[in-house]
Amino acid sequence: MVTGSAGFIGGHVAEALRAAGHDVVGLDLRTGADVRDPAALDALLPGVEVVVHQAARVGLGVDVADLPGYASVNVYGTAVLLAAMARHEIGRLVLASSMVVYGEGHYECAAHGHVRPGPRAVPDLERGSFEPLCPRCGAALACAPIGEDARPDPRNAYATTKLAQEHLAANWARETGGSAAALRYHNVYGPRMPRDTPYAGVAAIFRSELEAGRAPKVFEDGRQLRDFVHVRDVARANLAAMSAPVRPGELRAWNIASGAPHTVGEMADTLAAARGGPAPQVTGDYRLGDVRHIVASPERARAELGFRAEVEFGAGMKEFAWS
Ligand code: UD1
Repeated sequence: MVTGSAGFIGGHVAEALRAAGHDVVGLDLRTGADVRDPAALDALLPGVEVVVHQAARVGLGVDVADLPGYASVNVYGTAVLLAAMARHEIGRLVLASSMVVYGEGHYECAAHGHVRPGPRAVPDLERGSFEPLCPRCGAALACAPIGEDARPDPRNAYATTKLAQEHLAANWARETGGSAAALRYHNVYGPRMPRDTPYAGVAAIFRSELEAGRAPKVFEDGRQLRDFVHVRDVARANLAAMSAPVRPGELRAWNIASGAPHTVGEMADTLAAARGGPAPQVTGDYRLGDVRHIVASPERARAELGFRAEVEFGAGMKEFAWS
């Protein structure tokens, strides 16, 4: 079963599973089935061997009025799904998690080694000082790829609910002897990414602006780093995760990333160039829930899932610009 099968990532996952010869049962709000509805699950789950849970409310959240919606769909929905999986004795879960569970990336201070800077202060952001500084001495920091064992530090409502999903899945695994594979997606982009919504990732927002003939608005100074990973690679990672080496009773997490980070400014330039303009505008604006840099180590996924992203940034963005 793929939950969220009519969505952006879920749709690609369902397609990849079918192409690999699996029978796929789809569940999606858009096709009338809610993951929070135990009766819908009881009707669809008989015969299912693996649940690939992609259904979620996504995005950063616009304001605090979004909190109940995120908690309901992502936290309560996952709890209802896990209880139904236990009723139907389904022992394998692949969970769409996110790099947002980490909060800020991995930082090193020349004097203090590995440090975890807290949320950035409004006065710093207001004066255009976007880099997190050493919480002990205030020195500049170097950013390095984050590994899966980093302590989670969710910074917004969406991130909090993604971490809660991982915890609930771990509870389910321990109680039932099931195995849970959590895929911590980095910035997913590609064909069928939602258009014209503040809840979409930055690549979709930039593409919508370019389509309308407007300049993409690059926040901060554009030098914030992200790892953009193509949705077809993410679908392949889900396929690999279905037979991931997870011990019964456990949850294991993997970063799903390209391993080749780029700045948001570079991404805007690449998309704008592919469409022939207009050129991006660096605004200096900021969003309070944003972290500065988050880049991942893809090593664990390489070693344990045999997963390696194949779509190269330039080629992927070029295709996406016109998709
Ligand atoms: C994104 C997704 C998150 C997902 C995660 C991993 C959203 C909103 N965020 O997180 O759901 O779990 O990837 O796949 O879908 N920016 C601009 N201009 C804009 C919008 C954003 O410059 O118009 C900047 C932001 O300030 C930030 C960067 O782009 O620095 C990335 O933003 P975004 O894609 O929204 O969020 P992530 O935190 O990277």
